[in-house]
Amino acid sequence: MLKKIAILGSSGSIGTNTLDIVEQFPDRFEVVGLAVQQNIFKLEEQIRKFHPKVVSVADETQVNELRTRCADVAVEILSGEAGAVAVATHPDVDLVMSAIVGFAGLVPTYEAILAKKQIALANKETLVVAGELIMREIEAQGARLLPVDSEHNAIFQSLQGHRREDIAKIWLTCSGGPFRLYSREQLEHVTAQDALRHPTWFMGQKITIDSASLMNKGLEVIEAHWLFGVGYSDIWVVIHPQSVIHSMVEYRDGSLIAQLGAPDMRIPIAYAMAHPERLDIDVPKLDVTAVGNMSFDEPDWDKFPCLRYAFEAGKIGGTMPAVLNAANEIAVEAFLQERIAFLDLSRIIHDVMEAHDVKAMSSLDVAIEADRWARKYARICIDKIGGKSVTIEATLDVPGMTLPQPEN
Ligand SMILES: NC(=O)c1ccc[n+]([C@@H]2O[C@H](COP(=O)([O-])OP(=O)(O)OC[C@H]3O[C@@H](n4cnc5c(N)ncnc54)[C@H](OP(=O)(O)O)[C@@H]3O)[C@@H](O)[C@H]2O)c1
Repeated sequence: MLKKIAILGSSGSIGTNTLDIVEQFPDRFEVVGLAVQQNIFKLEEQIRKFHPKVVSVADETQVNELRTRCADVAVEILSGEAGAVAVATHPDVDLVMSAIVGFAGLVPTYEAILAKKQIALANKETLVVAGELIMREIEAQGARLLPVDSEHNAIFQSLQGHRREDIAKIWLTCSGGPFRLYSREQLEHVTAQDALRHPTWFMGQKITIDSASLMNKGLEVIEAHWLFGVGYSDIWVVIHPQSVIHSMVEYRDGSLIAQLGAPDMRIPIAYAMAHPERLDIDVPKLDVTAVGNMSFDEPDWDKFPCLRYAFEAGKIGGTMPAVLNAANEIAVEAFLQERIAFLDLSRIIHDVMEAHDVKAMSSLDVAIEADRWARKYARICIDKIGGKSVTIEATLDVPGMTLPQPEN
């Protein structure tokens, strides 16, 4: 059966890999909608190749140029967050590939769930920020959530045919990133360019930095908690530099079921898109005889405190994971702009979490306000490090949520 899809974040790493699968199976998938932030050149190429009915550009300043460039094409061109929501909820769409990076993916994904779409979820931040709300709505709407993140896709595959109540533990594998073997002293001096050289995966910039700080694994721990209903004490992170085993489920009889494969995101993407079928995709296959040895180590919690903070935020719950996520997004942006050092990432996240007054995650508005508060506070922390003056408002409009002033 032809599946009609919308791709949120179509110009990114997951988005383009998704379109590669569509291109390989034109009789299985049809593109109805595409959404990007600002890359109208890539979007124009995609419009001409895949003929979507509707597209959206979040950056309103770019949309008129796209309209001019695509004047000869029959496509509806929208903009802003409302545009991405319209793409995600278009009546013709069966499956939404949620692959916007960061918090910006939350609202369109949430609206797609309310519209009862199947969701292939790459945007882990949606579950980190508002996992409780999202899982509640998935249940209420009878929507389907299919994990795309390779670890969660591996767990999802390893759960097929097994009972949830038999799970003893989840083992989330982690490559360890480019700085696995660095000392703390060496970490003081690494640059964004060093961090962008991931040893096994080729991904967008934000997730690549998160992989270097192990925040990506921390976000994945929270994602796994919500997706599979497993407590934080039963989610274990293991460093596996070869990135061949994508994660494992341990059952109560001591059996471990794992999923292995080449480190190529098209494998989990295709599995989520075609579930429960498997597609004969054209990707490099894993030759286990060429892998040689595989190794497994405990993470270094002191060298990579972001992982610890994510566990803590998850255990605290409420608005704390949203705050962790927002502080991380702002800190990563500053690190990419070379305004802060690598080890400042965890310092900023720590300071923002410590200043936060946790609220219950009772609505999407609470999530949005917690995100806004944490972004502002993180900017204050960054300005302090850079010695710049603080120019933001001191109080937010959420009752009971007051922005503490930084010490000078
Ligand atoms: N890459 C991977 O291998 C991988 C693996 C597992 C999970 N993930 C998750 O998948 C998500 C995407 O990662 P990625 O590596 O593909 O990121 P990426 O390469 O940086 O791409 C991000 C995409 O999101 C779009 N975007 C950003 N803000 C937007 C907004 N406000 N509205 C609409 N579109 C917006 C970007 O558009 P522009 O190009 O116009 O900026 C781009 O298409 C992240 O949550 C990441 O954690 C990625």
